Amino acid sequence: MENPRRVEHQMTDKGYVPVYTTTVIEQPWDTYTAVDHDTWATLFKRQREILVGRAAKEFVENQERLHMSAEAIPRFDDLNRVLKPATGWELIAVEGLLPELTFFEHLANRRFPVTWWIRKPEQLDYLAEPDMFHDLFGHVPLLLNPVFADYMQAYGAGGVKAAAIGPEALQNLTRLYWYTVEFGLIRTDEGLRIYGAGIVSSKGESIYCLDSPAPNRIGFDLERVMQTRYRIDTYQKTYFVIDSYEQLMDATRPDFTPIYARLHASPSHAAGDVLDTDRVWQRGNGEGWSNDGDV
Ligand SMILES: [Fe+2]
Repeated sequence: MENPRRVEHQMTDKGYVPVYTTTVIEQPWDTYTAVDHDTWATLFKRQREILVGRAAKEFVENQERLHMSAEAIPRFDDLNRVLKPATGWELIAVEGLLPELTFFEHLANRRFPVTWWIRKPEQLDYLAEPDMFHDLFGHVPLLLNPVFADYMQAYGAGGVKAAAIGPEALQNLTRLYWYTVEFGLIRTDEGLRIYGAGIVSSKGESIYCLDSPAPNRIGFDLERVMQTRYRIDTYQKTYFVIDSYEQLMDATRPDFTPIYARLHASPSHAAGDVLDTDRVWQRGNGEGWSNDGDV
């Protein structure tokens, strides 16, 4: 297998990350080794077991509709044959994390970039950057949900606009992605469930986010989320709970320009803060939190 082409390291709102070439490639499926397929299978089985009664039911249902299984690393072309007619989204293979504007432009055009390579067996529990398991297993299932699919496109279009406005607007918008697409929880009749890709692709956080008394669980509010800092190297101190995907889409519909202007004048909140105005599901006891603040 060829090594992915890393072009530079860059300080972003996600921390210090490698950034890859923007080239869209063919998924080099034939180059996956038996070890790669095994890694996929191990992670797939392990997460599916943990996610019973934890993940939003449409997450697992949609994985099944996409015929994702432990048997082998999926071919992006096969997934696209289901995804594209359903919601107009298409997976494209990339070398890794893209520059922000490139990423937003893909989303705005209903193209979801998926890292083609998978982690090494010794990295089952933690990887600092997204690999194929995170992108495919974590992000792709909800692209089959029509409302969430629209939200992702709206987010991309919002990203292109925010990038033109400036770094502060971009930071506000990135927090929205972080606390919804990556680390979001949703309220259901059966209780809180996970829909965030960063959680469903992590064994430890899938358990922690719902079971631990340490983190806050707070009702979603767009401006509150945009004002909340986060850490990338620990489990979250706060999870925001949506009532429905429609709530996300509705919140994203208005033009954010006046919101950015308003937020510019108000202070941001630490990742673990609880405000008087919050709808609190659980006030975390802060157990195990490090004291060195947040990003
Ligand atoms: Fe992600």
